[in-house]
Amino acid sequence: MNCHTLVMSVEGCFLLITHYFIKRQSMGKINAIISGVGGYVPDYILTNEELSRMVDTSDEWIMTRVGIKERHILAEEGLGTSYMARKAAKQALKKTGADPDSIDAVLVATTTPDYKFPSTASVVIGKLGLKNAFAMDLSAACAGFMYAMDMAASMIKCGRCRRIIVIGADKMSSIADYTDRQTCVLFGDGAGAVIMEASEEEGVGAQDAFFRTDGKGLPFLHMKAGGSVCPPSHFTVSHRLHYIYQEGRTVFRYAVTSMGDDVLEVLKRNGLTNDDVDWVIPHEANYRIIEAVAKRVGLPMERIVVNIERYGNTSGATIPLAMWDHESQLKKGQNVIFTAFGAGFAHGASYYKWAYDGDKVAK
Ligand code: ACO
Repeated sequence: MNCHTLVMSVEGCFLLITHYFIKRQSMGKINAIISGVGGYVPDYILTNEELSRMVDTSDEWIMTRVGIKERHILAEEGLGTSYMARKAAKQALKKTGADPDSIDAVLVATTTPDYKFPSTASVVIGKLGLKNAFAMDLSAACAGFMYAMDMAASMIKCGRCRRIIVIGADKMSSIADYTDRQTCVLFGDGAGAVIMEASEEEGVGAQDAFFRTDGKGLPFLHMKAGGSVCPPSHFTVSHRLHYIYQEGRTVFRYAVTSMGDDVLEVLKRNGLTNDDVDWVIPHEANYRIIEAVAKRVGLPMERIVVNIERYGNTSGATIPLAMWDHESQLKKGQNVIFTAFGAGFAHGASYYKWAYDGDKVAK
């Protein structure tokens, strides 16, 4: 290489580098947006009337104490959480038109995985035939989906991934004891999914999250057997230890204070007042809990998305199912606050600016 060629190639490199930095500056900051929602609930509907023939309860008690009229149950034998998760994810892919080969990861938030291992997300990836994605489950009970969205947002913002399917799915009927009236009336099955992806558009996408898990919840909400502390045995099965155990009143109190205070914290951190909030999409555990949270925050119920009456508590699926149901009313640029509370106790709130007009999306 002579002197002249060397100077030319140094100049070329300099121009390339300058071009790269100018381009970087003109590109906006990468944020993570929700670009579409899918959902699935099984066909079988378990009504309060049917439940009152199974245990000593009534439509009146369930409606006034919890606000649930009916819940969907995955009744077919041999089908688990991944079946519903896959259906919800497929719908989200179809609605957004996202190329399945462009999916970098699938996260499934669930308390009722198909198996202890492998992850339910890996089953979903196999069934969807995704070729370029990795899979993992996230366990944070009813707060799982909200946490998983934030994990996905972080992976997108740091540039590691560009498009992720986040799923909240639970077959709560597989761990509900249909001889225990205190718990079995509360739960249902379902799945919701969102596509989260990178965007350089300003004024939309994930803004903030405030999460806490205080570790006080174990005695009040857990499944006694089936884990490594108390593996399955004849004893655990005959003593009905593989079902949800819950001290309802304590959970109720913690849920109201935690979700309420978490929403207030997110508003404060982002300089928002109640008037700036277009929608709160809460975990749907009990209508009275949601009402009490709204009161604590000082928001009217018209701005809280509630669908517990038709689905019950589907744990990880309640928030995406509420988004799915409410999608047509969500408008680009609106301020949406999510809040959840679950076993652990895992809780928090997150703040998104909605990224598209939901009424323009075909269901
Ligand atoms: N039908 C009729 N009576 C009932 C029923 C029922 N299904 N369930 C309980 N009762 C009775 C009780 O036996 C009790 O009777 P008693 O006064 O004769 O003893 C009475 O109703 C009151 O019971 P409470 O438990 O005090 O009722 P409460 O108003 O607290 O409602 C509930 C119970 C609905 C469970 C409520 O406490 C609650 O919603 N807690 C929070 C649930 C929750 O959010 N769970 C977290 C998510 S789960 C997860 O993370 C996997």
